[in-house]
Amino acid sequence: MLKPQLTDTFGRHHDYLRISLTDACNLRCVYCMPNEKVFVTPSAKLMQVEEIGNIAKMFVELGVKKIRLTGGEPLLRKDAKEIIQKLSKLPVELTVSTNAVLVDQYIETFKAANIRSVNVSLDTLNPDEFFAITKRGDFKKIMANIYILLSQHFKVKVNMVVMKGVNEHAILDFISWTKDFPLDVRFIEFMPFAGNAWLPEKVFSYKEMLNMISAKYEFLKLEDAINDTAKKYTVPGHAGTFAFITTITEPFCGTCNRLRLTADGKMKNCLFSQDETDLLTAMRKGEDITPLIISCLENKKRERGGRFDFENAVGASPSIALNTASIENRSMIRIGG
Ligand code: 5AD
Ligand code: SF4
Repeated sequence: MLKPQLTDTFGRHHDYLRISLTDACNLRCVYCMPNEKVFVTPSAKLMQVEEIGNIAKMFVELGVKKIRLTGGEPLLRKDAKEIIQKLSKLPVELTVSTNAVLVDQYIETFKAANIRSVNVSLDTLNPDEFFAITKRGDFKKIMANIYILLSQHFKVKVNMVVMKGVNEHAILDFISWTKDFPLDVRFIEFMPFAGNAWLPEKVFSYKEMLNMISAKYEFLKLEDAINDTAKKYTVPGHAGTFAFITTITEPFCGTCNRLRLTADGKMKNCLFSQDETDLLTAMRKGEDITPLIISCLENKKRERGGRFDFENAVGASPSIALNTASIENRSMIRIGG
């Protein structure tokens, strides 16, 4: 029988699955971690290696062509190597998002699994500022690991979350870094998640970023692929590129092809969706999870989980902002970027 495909009620075809391996992390980024004490899901509640393999296989049979491993910090999981090996057997493009602290221990695993592209989260090129944002002192290690990835010919994308009044000046440092290194830097508008103290006035919008950059650099627009979340640019003569992820001021939901699986085996049809579908419990009971996947996708909203009106919130009063930001969702660390 022909398997149903992952097309939602708006005609969007979904072929990209982001799997969170853990909600633990070795950094404490202010925009990701809730302020309160962080609760880490006990390992028995997490998808185990075989379960990740089996659930991923169901998605692949339904048409998923790309899988990204996220966290928390995915490489913190003791069995991350086994998971990577298992997923590498599936006919998908496999990628990882990491803070790069442990990357040097994974180079051979990545190569053997044919992982060619690695996304690294890094929000400043200044060690003191790095400490202020992450509460940890791993800056040198991360930089060394980025250079290891480059020397081993991995494609490296560096994700910077831009927060007004915190690190926006680092945008120019990152662009200058792309001069000699073939890095793709992506500037991400600060997004609201549970416990991350988001306010509209902390958003440094993509237009503001462009203005800041144009005061110093001439740059060209590059062509974006259809499902790209980023608007890409380059400075002529630079080895690398830069891009903007404009979730707040110009959402790109119209071409969304992404599905998410939390570390405890719950499917989310959107980063901002409140609903979760528990695939792991169903699978542990021996149920067929295909109908659950299909119905979860059927409930996908047109834009940002159907719950935000950021354009109006940016520049609006803090009380409106707080209402907007306090809408219940998991914290980013528990969804998986
Ligand atoms: N706003 C924007 N991006 C975020 N990330 C984590 N939290 C936020 C937030 N509040 C990004 C990190 C990481 C990716 C997994 O998600 O930059 O690269
Ligand atoms: Fe860890 Fe990434 Fe969250 Fe920072 S953004 S705390 S590195 S999961």
